[in-house]
Amino acid sequence: MRNSLFVKIYLTVLISLAAVTIASAIFVEVGQELESAAFGPAGFFALIAAVIGLVAFPVVRHLTRRLEALRKGADRWGAGALDTRVAVRGSDEVAAVAASFNRAAEQIERLLAAHSSLLANASHELRSPLARLRVAIDLIANEQSGPMRDEIVRNLAELDALVEEILLASRLDHIEKLEQVEPVDLLALTAEKGARFGVDVSGEPGVVVGDPKLLMRLVRNLMQNAQRHGRPPVSAHVGIEGGSVVLKVCDHGPGLPEGTGERVFEPFFRPQGSSETAGGWGLGLSLVRKIALRHGATVHHESPSGAGACFVVTFPAYLDMAGAYPCESGRSASALPSLRE
Ligand SMILES: Nc1ncnc2c1ncn2[C@@H]1O[C@H](COP(=O)(O)OP(=O)(O)OP(=O)(O)O)[C@@H](O)[C@H]1O
Ligand SMILES: [Mg+2]
Repeated sequence: MRNSLFVKIYLTVLISLAAVTIASAIFVEVGQELESAAFGPAGFFALIAAVIGLVAFPVVRHLTRRLEALRKGADRWGAGALDTRVAVRGSDEVAAVAASFNRAAEQIERLLAAHSSLLANASHELRSPLARLRVAIDLIANEQSGPMRDEIVRNLAELDALVEEILLASRLDHIEKLEQVEPVDLLALTAEKGARFGVDVSGEPGVVVGDPKLLMRLVRNLMQNAQRHGRPPVSAHVGIEGGSVVLKVCDHGPGLPEGTGERVFEPFFRPQGSSETAGGWGLGLSLVRKIALRHGATVHHESPSGAGACFVVTFPAYLDMAGAYPCESGRSASALPSLRE
């Protein structure tokens, strides 16, 4: 019955009233018999309150427990776990709300999946004509060359990079878990990228478990941004803080405009005033965040006093079988698998 919650509350009130009536009858009788003032009006009201409390407690407790479970489910869903569904128990109004929530969550999850698969499929389909165009341009290049050809080649390369970024983002959204994970020394990996980008890298060996190619991509995106949108000197530091390996990439550029906040990690977001001539699609940082999340890491940005931007990624540190940090237990970071992007 749909109105059973209403019925439950209604019955609770009725039972409470009946209990109070019986209690007052007993009170009057006992009071008369004992002719004592021990009970008094205060005792009488306390008795009524206790009776109502006792009768109403199970119903209220049951109701609030289910509402609390519903709230927790909605919070988890709102935090991004779109596959969250709540338990539908009984057939009262709370159950109806839970069922409505589940239906809405299902619908939205399906819509989002359809959107992202459309984007991924379209990007995938774009690859073939792009590749054919590149071959055609290379063939023409033998006969013609000049600025027009260079412009076409540059635009093709940009389109190719965009397609690749969208496909990677879509893959990260859809995979259940990372396929090729291994212990990776983040300092070695960052130093390798730093050498290519001319970034000063310092710190201590910090081992995390992850996909080396994706981690390379994360570091590359941050260094590329520091060079493209910031100003030198650009530095990267790897440190161990508590149970975490912390990577910081900092530059001395203008930093991010005040109030940019976490939105900078959203796909295609570029802060107001940021020039389009700086190139890029606004996908680099969203990939950084997706890769970080896939590694159980968090990412945020800071503006150090003075100027510049600092992007900080905090990974859970890898511990060996003995629960010790590998570099402390004698296994040197250089003994870890070598990395190639
Ligand atoms: N180190 C930085 N200093 C100042 N602004 C930055 C920095 N890193 C990122 N930004 C700002 O954040 C925006 C989003 O960065 P993101 O890496 O997502 O995209 P992009 O670099 O513009 O393009 P893409 O990475 O897709 O090639 C940039 O356009 C830039 O305005
Ligand atoms: Mg970028």
